[in-house]
Amino acid sequence: MQIKIAVLPGDGIGPEVMRAALKTLKHVAEKFQTETQFSENLIGGASFEEFGTPLTEETLKACLEADAVLLGAVGGYEWENLPHHLKPEAALLRLRKELALFTNIRPAKVYNAFIDSSSLKAEVLKGTDFVVFRELTGGIYFGEPRGYDANQGWNTMIYQRYEVERIARRAFEIARQRKKRVTSVDKANVLEVSQFWREVVADVHKAFPDVELTNMYVDNAAMQIVRDPGQFDVIVTSNMFGDILSDIAGMITGSLGMLPSASLGEKHALYEPVHGSAPDIAGQNKANPIAMIASVAMMFAYSFQMTRAAELIERAIEKTLELGYRTADIYQAGNKLVSTDEMTEQIIYNFDVL
Ligand code: NAI
Ligand code: MG
Repeated sequence: MQIKIAVLPGDGIGPEVMRAALKTLKHVAEKFQTETQFSENLIGGASFEEFGTPLTEETLKACLEADAVLLGAVGGYEWENLPHHLKPEAALLRLRKELALFTNIRPAKVYNAFIDSSSLKAEVLKGTDFVVFRELTGGIYFGEPRGYDANQGWNTMIYQRYEVERIARRAFEIARQRKKRVTSVDKANVLEVSQFWREVVADVHKAFPDVELTNMYVDNAAMQIVRDPGQFDVIVTSNMFGDILSDIAGMITGSLGMLPSASLGEKHALYEPVHGSAPDIAGQNKANPIAMIASVAMMFAYSFQMTRAAELIERAIEKTLELGYRTADIYQAGNKLVSTDEMTEQIIYNFDVL
């Protein structure tokens, strides 16, 4: 198999964690006899400096032609006061739109070696491994009419059947590769749009009888994620509810430096860490590469159905943490403090000895 990947390192620690991820990716691809082809382009502030725009047509074209896009992070102090359309973040918004990415997926996976650092109790967290599918292009964040005047403010929560169908289908498909359980989260006791959501998800479910479907109200879901996160496998939900739930899910697992993400469309996919460009530690070989490396694992699983490769990368990360290796952001007394590069070498080493 040959896979074609667009690489966008970006700004700040982006290039540092990208280097770590590519090293891991190439190593894993070789072990799995997968031929890789890379295009690498500037994005964000780095692109602005070189070309006067945060996203060039050439970069966009490379992303549209690739099987998957890997993105580091964009942004930094020096570009904060640019007009809106020239800001590094504008590149991301445009890219997501052009690639028609309608689902954002964030996993909440607890590494046993790291369990004591979470704000939740170890016995609650044990075995936590679920993903949140957040609808990304519809719902109340985009619905019309919207506005406010001196006396009132209003927004519209609206979903089209096809919007619910496509994300539900993806959720059931991925659940099939996992524990075969989908929880659809809504507020159907109050909102008609949620009743509609629920009906459409139930319709899509008919094609996936081997996957278990549960419906849950969003307030209860927020509570359940904190109370008993082990009960979840795939959570699928609308834009606003997903925005909130994925942040909760992310935080129960520990550090920002360890959270990967995937954004999927019908034809395209983008993988990136949840964290930003961390200008405060950029250029110091201190950044935690785990979020970016775990994003590569998601890429193998979701874009190339190489679930075994993904699993092994995750186990290598777990093993490395178990052995006590920590970058500065997750360091505690007694750990072995390592740089970005050393952490990456350890993960690759542990991948090989698994
Ligand atoms: P941030 O995520 O860059 O940093 C927040 C804190 O976490 C900092 O103290 C940073 O050092 C630390 N941190 C983040 N990732 C880390 C890692 N891998 N290893 C170790 N420590 C890590 O968020 P912040 O500071 O709000 O934003 C900085 C810049 O990044 C801004 O320009 C912002 O717009 C941009 N940003 C970009 C995103 C993207 O490219 N998708 C997402 C979020 C922010
Ligand atoms: Mg959010």
